[in-house]
Amino acid sequence: MKIVIANWKMNLLSAEAANFCQAFKAGYSPKPGCEIGIAPPATLLREVSAHLAGSGVQVYAQNGYFEQKGAFTGEISMGQIKDAGCHGVILGHSERRHIFGEMDENLVKKLKAAWECELMPVLCIGETLTQRDAGFTLDVLHAQLDVLKLTGPGPLVLAYEPVWAIGTGRVAETAQIEEVHAFIHDELLRLWSGRGMEVPIQYGGSVTPENFAGILKVPFVAGGLVGGASLDPAKFLKLAEQAQAAI
Ligand code: 13P
Repeated sequence: MKIVIANWKMNLLSAEAANFCQAFKAGYSPKPGCEIGIAPPATLLREVSAHLAGSGVQVYAQNGYFEQKGAFTGEISMGQIKDAGCHGVILGHSERRHIFGEMDENLVKKLKAAWECELMPVLCIGETLTQRDAGFTLDVLHAQLDVLKLTGPGPLVLAYEPVWAIGTGRVAETAQIEEVHAFIHDELLRLWSGRGMEVPIQYGGSVTPENFAGILKVPFVAGGLVGGASLDPAKFLKLAEQAQAAI
């Protein structure tokens, strides 16, 4: 199974999102075994869900809070995300961790809250350049994956996004992706035994139509989480087609 998700981050206005969806839908035909998703900013969740209804493309939120409702100014709940027509929610993106101080302990609660609302969580993990240069990559990933020991098994997509490869144009080398994806696969088996094998592991970080076909050939790479290249419908369509061809 392959899964490619466009993470629009804090980009696009209503009219631009409508144009994107129209252009993407015009060229896209779904194929079994390959899921395509779009994660717009919160203001556009409901309308992008409406634009994509019936297309087979699923909508994801970029973050969500674990409480169901109440005095949490600026947050949105998993129930509200579901109510806006979403299929899933990205959790623990490195920009949430490093810019907004997101903690692993919140991620345990967020994963459980997502499951309670029948949302598919996409849990992001990845090391910084300092951590990689110091030889701590696998230790960092091991620690980040520990949240899965606390939650226990459930429906999940995992995204490995080396922080130094995000938005930098510096994609990880094949050997680096191969080492980490094999490690994550083993960790998932250790943590969740058989259920761990059901978790697709995406790669993210400067994915483009030029490098994606090669990345998809790496063992245990089950697709991509794409930032910059996902803002152009023609490029995102190419990425979707490359993933379909790699099934
Ligand atoms: P880029 O594809 O722009 O490097 O972003 C990756 C990312 O953070 C997706 O979540």
